[in-house]
Amino acid sequence: RKLIYSAFEYLSKEINEHFEDKEAFQPRTLIVCGSGLGGISNRLSSDPNPLTIPYGTIPGFKSSTVAGHSGTLVFGMMNNTPVVLMNGRLHSYEGHSFFDVSFPIRVLHNFNSVRTLIVTNAAGGLNDSFAPCDLMCISDHINFPGFAGNHPLRGPNLDEIGPRFLPMSDAYDLELRKLLFKKKTELGLKRALHEGTYIYVSGPTFETRAESRMLRMLGADAVGMSTVPEVTVARHCGWRVLALSLITNNCVLAAAPSALDENPAAMDEGIASHEEVLENGRKASQDVERLIEEIVADI
Ligand code: 6GU
Repeated sequence: RKLIYSAFEYLSKEINEHFEDKEAFQPRTLIVCGSGLGGISNRLSSDPNPLTIPYGTIPGFKSSTVAGHSGTLVFGMMNNTPVVLMNGRLHSYEGHSFFDVSFPIRVLHNFNSVRTLIVTNAAGGLNDSFAPCDLMCISDHINFPGFAGNHPLRGPNLDEIGPRFLPMSDAYDLELRKLLFKKKTELGLKRALHEGTYIYVSGPTFETRAESRMLRMLGADAVGMSTVPEVTVARHCGWRVLALSLITNNCVLAAAPSALDENPAAMDEGIASHEEVLENGRKASQDVERLIEEIVADI
């Protein structure tokens, strides 16, 4: 709690020094940029200039080690609306605890103005009607590591923040999801926007074929290595949540070729790679940026 408070004090001081109109700068929304989606920060207006703070300089913040996740907290105006943006996020596969991964949310909760989380990620498609570069609005999730006790709310409950037994049946705000689909239509975006269930796995390996089939059987439409810890903590803080997955690749659901087959299929078909994730992120990023830019003004 001390750590949370020192980070909060540090950020308040930086904001006060940077923004002339301190009263007006009350961010309502935190935007988390996923893999290849850092371009969202280009949508911040230059008047006033955004305030960019590297995670490394904020007390208690850990820095990300993943390529394509630079690691800065940015305060600025988007579409005439004050927002705060996490450019790069931490993942538990880097060795970070869930406390560290969700720390920025706990800190920003102290700014009584921030009450909505918009989170983006790159995910693998499990639903066979999905194609690379499609988007999926998350309507529900499966916290797979959570079932084994790897849960972001494990430990003593912070009663002043939220309940011990947090309901998660309505984690993804229906009104915000409707708003997303409405904006997509209004903007006339051609890109497919699905709605579905995201399953969180710890990574860092991409799934084997058998694992992908198992996750599909569990009812998931997309799989990824982030988002659920942040969403869970944001819900514990009572925030509303909108989450958007960019389907960067399709998971390989076909059985592995058999050594007993005379003409086995090629082994290297559809191997997921981080480069592919980043490249497809860049392609669809513009549409994601436009959607978010529209939505923040309505929150
Ligand atoms: Cl195929 N799997 C996981 N776990 N995360 C991903 C992904 C796949 N593609 C992008 N992120």
